[in-house]
Amino acid sequence: MSARATPPRASEGLRSGELHKGELHVSGLYVGDCLPLLARLPDESVDLTVTSPPYDHLRHYDTPTPLNLTALGQQLLRVTREGGICALVIGDSARHYAKSLTSFRLAVSWCDALGWRLFECCLYHRHGTPGPWWRTRFRVDHEFILLLLKGERPGVFHKEALYVPTKHAGERVSYRPYPRRGTPWGAPPPAVQPHQCRGTVWPYATSSAERNRLKLGHPATMPDRLAADLIACFSNPGDLVLDPLMGSGTTCVMAARQGRRYMGMDASPAYVDIARRRLASEAGGQEEEGGKGRGNG
Ligand SMILES: C[S@@+](CC[C@H](N)C(=O)[O-])C[C@H]1O[C@@H](n2cnc3c(N)ncnc32)[C@H](O)[C@@H]1O
Repeated sequence: MSARATPPRASEGLRSGELHKGELHVSGLYVGDCLPLLARLPDESVDLTVTSPPYDHLRHYDTPTPLNLTALGQQLLRVTREGGICALVIGDSARHYAKSLTSFRLAVSWCDALGWRLFECCLYHRHGTPGPWWRTRFRVDHEFILLLLKGERPGVFHKEALYVPTKHAGERVSYRPYPRRGTPWGAPPPAVQPHQCRGTVWPYATSSAERNRLKLGHPATMPDRLAADLIACFSNPGDLVLDPLMGSGTTCVMAARQGRRYMGMDASPAYVDIARRRLASEAGGQEEEGGKGRGNG
């Protein structure tokens, strides 16, 4: 079994609506089209989804048909528990001096037509090799992190897990005296706290800085830290974390390392193989019986 902090067992199943024999198993990786695979999951069985969909045909993936993002949103809403978050890392391509608006359309349609609510839209500020210098455009160094919420309020929000250090910790930086009742001179300002709440711009080095050759066998990975932060903030140990488009398995590896259960899907057998090898080498992970089968996609 894996070296997870609280090793989940398949027998724990999914808390509402059990997975039956022959169905998908938690802590499993699946090869296949995610839509028919997701259709086999019970309602309200997933605590958190962390994923990055293909968009605007920027890359060629070995998939039978382009992914229907609306159908994906519907399935994810169905399988997500009340209060659960779906974190989507997504961007927009540009053509003839105009952005595609794919991420904007997705956010609006998933909220207006499907019933998700946009908890927050953070920016993943990419630090890495500068990429091409465009004569007529800015160099794009961000993607969106759409944090979509099912229901009234997030069931889990460990924002303290993402605190960032303050620049002037311990200093008393205000020059305006704090009025103290009964004294004309005022009291010194309070010392700046060592940490503060994270803002909505999240800076990370790109995956190439991680120097993980196995992971870089996939052309479009998200940084480990980005997936790890989302999991730490929006899930508890033992929760089920899903990535229906897992690529090299970043979400599953980070979930396993933090003692969460995971489920990963990808249409490409080669990428699922990378994810399997990453789980074994980076999280001491091992799939539970039943996780190795081909999906029906
Ligand atoms: C941007 S990549 C995900 C990368 C991943 N976040 C990582 O860190 O490695 C998107 C993935 O979606 C997969 N994909 C595309 N369409 C799919 C579908 N219909 N069903 C399952 N996987 C699909 C592709 O094979 C690709 O690996």
